[in-house]
Amino acid sequence: MALTSFEPSRSLHGEVQAPPDKSISHRAALLAGFGEGSTRIRRYLDSADTQSSLAAIEALGATVHVIDGADDGLDVEVSGFGLRGADPPASAIDVGNAGTLIRLISGLLAGQEGRRFELDGDESIRRRPMERVAEPLRLMGASVESAAGGVPPLAIAGTALRGIDYRLPVASAQVKSCLLLAGTLADASTTVREPAETRDHTERMLEAAGAKIAIDRGRSVPALAARGSITVEPADELALPPLSVPGDLSSAAFHLTAALITEGSDVTVAGVGLNPTRVGFLGILNRMGATVEVEELGFEAGEPVGRVRARSGSLAGTRVEPAEVPLAIDELPLVGLLGCFAEGETVVAGAAELRHKESDRIAGVVEALRALGGEAEALEEGFVVRGTGGLRGGLVESHGDHRLAMLGAVAGLASREGSAVEGFGAAAVSYPGFERDLRSLA
Ligand code: S3P
Repeated sequence: MALTSFEPSRSLHGEVQAPPDKSISHRAALLAGFGEGSTRIRRYLDSADTQSSLAAIEALGATVHVIDGADDGLDVEVSGFGLRGADPPASAIDVGNAGTLIRLISGLLAGQEGRRFELDGDESIRRRPMERVAEPLRLMGASVESAAGGVPPLAIAGTALRGIDYRLPVASAQVKSCLLLAGTLADASTTVREPAETRDHTERMLEAAGAKIAIDRGRSVPALAARGSITVEPADELALPPLSVPGDLSSAAFHLTAALITEGSDVTVAGVGLNPTRVGFLGILNRMGATVEVEELGFEAGEPVGRVRARSGSLAGTRVEPAEVPLAIDELPLVGLLGCFAEGETVVAGAAELRHKESDRIAGVVEALRALGGEAEALEEGFVVRGTGGLRGGLVESHGDHRLAMLGAVAGLASREGSAVEGFGAAAVSYPGFERDLRSLA
């Protein structure tokens, strides 16, 4: 069992650059691959997950030329095979650990008429629900087969697709994106209705690539505001203009959390994407009374970008409501960690989706926080944490989940005795430079 140790740290100080956004990198690779001509992508995330996306489009016929592999991401030039030009590889496309990749690419492959594709991945991918994309794709006329239990491997026989009007049963940006991408290949417009607002990177990037997208944000009554719909029109082709990928708030969130819970800290993360559909975590921090300053400085790839500064101080417990969940979905484990350092109780509710991530993150977070000496309890659809003024430290199992691995590291620095993280290498799925960046602040 490989263990990585994180000793208790004195205060954290300094500035780090957020690594490129994982969600946006996946989308950029796919739209460039299924696009016309060549696309230059700067600051493409160089992680295991996003390498899987580059390998996938290469396997389907794109040319991927890495011009430079700088520390802040890859500078790549992708020559696409066109929206309807994917060439089936001889063997299954390996998506690795990447749920975003397998769900989004399924929509594009479903419309490749007369060609058959197989998608498979690692042990964790083989446990993740795929019927949530397979069912609506079948309504569009697609032929999608999953393994017993509705999990990968997937076999997709490309066909002519029909436009549909579909209400998502779960708020999922991945499912929404899959259907919008399939919609570009359909015979008529496709509308996706969301039960709650989810990240909108696909809509922004599709529009930049020339697709016709109409967004109805729903009623402006706050409680109902999220009930929007997105409609995409069929497209002849897509062409993604050159772009530079903004930094990932979900990765930045680990450093911000480390600063908030390690006494005397003052940390800034620069170049962070501040898309309103991604910043739910910042709203939660605000409610917890955290000292966080956000400065929006411009736009990259059609997304607002800026700096976030976090300073340690007292925190109050809070309740995360279901409507907030999709806007902070990947940061909810950190809300649990923050709860251990906060006054009173912190509750995350309506977050059943956490059970279907790279691991069961409800079970994983509760197990980790308890192992570190915290008081945490799992709920069917979330968890409750009682603040005890800090954490003792202990052994954290990553369960092969990058976000649990990084949580274990941050918790160790802020704890009294430090942590040992089992399977810390999983961090490379989204943030290979994480340990270096975190330690640079210590
Ligand atoms: C993602 C959407 C979220 C998120 C995942 C990335 C995306 O998943 O948890 O890490 O890039 O669209 P769901 O949309 O399935 O909740």
